[in-house]
Amino acid sequence: PSTKRLTLVSNRLPVTINRSKNGQFQYHKSSGGLVTCMSGLGPDQSSNWYGWPGSVESHHNCKVRAELMQDHGAVPVFLEQELASRHYNGFSNSVLWPLLHYQDSLIAFKDCDWQAYQKVNRQFAVEIAFNAADGDTVWIHDYHLMLLPQMLREETEKRGKRLVIGFFLHTPFPSGDMFRILPVWREILEGVLHSDLIGFHAPSYDTNFKRTCSDLLKLVELPTGVQFQDRFVRTSDFPVGLDPEKILDCLQKDEVKRRISALKEQNPNMKYIIGVDRVDYVKGIPQKVDALDLFFEEHPEMLRKVTIIQVAVPSREDNPEYRDLATRIHQRVDEINTKYGDQSYQPINLIHQSVPIEDLLALYASSDVCLITSIRDGMNLVSFEYVACQSERRGVLLLSEFAGASERLAGSLLFNPWDKEGTAAALHRALTMDMDERTVNHRKAEEFVMKNTRYGAYDFKYPSRLRKLTCKNRSA
Ligand code: UDP
Ligand code: G6P
Repeated sequence: PSTKRLTLVSNRLPVTINRSKNGQFQYHKSSGGLVTCMSGLGPDQSSNWYGWPGSVESHHNCKVRAELMQDHGAVPVFLEQELASRHYNGFSNSVLWPLLHYQDSLIAFKDCDWQAYQKVNRQFAVEIAFNAADGDTVWIHDYHLMLLPQMLREETEKRGKRLVIGFFLHTPFPSGDMFRILPVWREILEGVLHSDLIGFHAPSYDTNFKRTCSDLLKLVELPTGVQFQDRFVRTSDFPVGLDPEKILDCLQKDEVKRRISALKEQNPNMKYIIGVDRVDYVKGIPQKVDALDLFFEEHPEMLRKVTIIQVAVPSREDNPEYRDLATRIHQRVDEINTKYGDQSYQPINLIHQSVPIEDLLALYASSDVCLITSIRDGMNLVSFEYVACQSERRGVLLLSEFAGASERLAGSLLFNPWDKEGTAAALHRALTMDMDERTVNHRKAEEFVMKNTRYGAYDFKYPSRLRKLTCKNRSA
């Protein structure tokens, strides 16, 4: 039997640690699409998942390490607090995140953050290299760790080990003209190019990446990848998937069914529009609220017949940009509710907290429309989750054309979230669509979501492809 192991690596672990009032450590499922699509893949007996556990006082490291490993198969990479903040809040979320999402006016490059980014990537490399065995597969995720493929090669080669390295980017990859804004574009590109296989959510991101390598680094670009130094680096798009079985099983739970009935009984004739987003400027929540304002202005007959439930999951709250956004969203929602509502009716119900999966699925299943207004979004798994919960109601998925999912989900109604009039018109069309059209559209989207599960797209195809490719590079 093979002793080769699969190691997952991401900045965010599948669980986030909080301290209770009496000082106990509590572990909650982390929010975000990366964790949703990777959870369950690892860790089993032959795999583990490395990541940053958040800020933990160093005298608790042993306890946290043991609890994470025993209960969640996770291996913490402990980082000194200021270093972690410069890496996460600084270079990752104030440089790479806005850059990769085309928000150049929000980029705040500081050399000290860049130094911290390099140090953190190196620390991950050293710890993984120390534990890895020759021939192991290491699968690195997302923009926080773009130097890790190169650093991991350096650290393992020093120790006489060869690894199979995959890198998957969960965000868009922008055009080269945008990417070269980054003062350290060369280091970042070369860092990632030490992988055997690089994966993206959507074909256009893969194309942008290869084009950027050819334009900026003058690499030879082929349809399946790029030639970098003495190796051919494969690149491709891999449609990320959910675990629809898990969602369908959860929908059958009495608890979820009770919540669905309660929503129906509360107001049998109400139509619900659901929105589920982290509070992040890329999700276009202000654009969504503006379009809703226009929609109610143009269609006063819809008042008291339609309610929007907007789950706004708190995110990156150390960053002032994100805190200001949360304040702006509350202000705008209050304005709309004052303008169109009264004590018995509020058009927008803003839930500014993360919600348990049972509530989330009940909300998806009870809604006639799911409205996703991302101004840029790697994939957007909320759209998949909504489709998976709609086999009875066959609600309409209103999807921004700037979400990666729009390149995948036939059957969704696409719109441009920058076009307020167009968004309001699409909303009206969605709410008035007849059941025949809803059924045809839903079936198309459902086919994709059910087929492209995370097992099909990743667990099976990805690591086995990685192994084959490395053998090729070795014998070349
Ligand atoms: N989600 C969550 N907590 C919540 C609400 C949603 O963890 O309170 C999940 C949601 O079910 C989905 C993920 O967060 O799986 C969001 O993924 P998506 O790809 O849509 O966006 P991301 O947050 O990764 O940008
Ligand atoms: C996106 C990113 C992930 C990240 C998630 C949540 O999905 O691609 O890497 O984990 O957002 O953000 P956070 O900063 O809380 O990890």
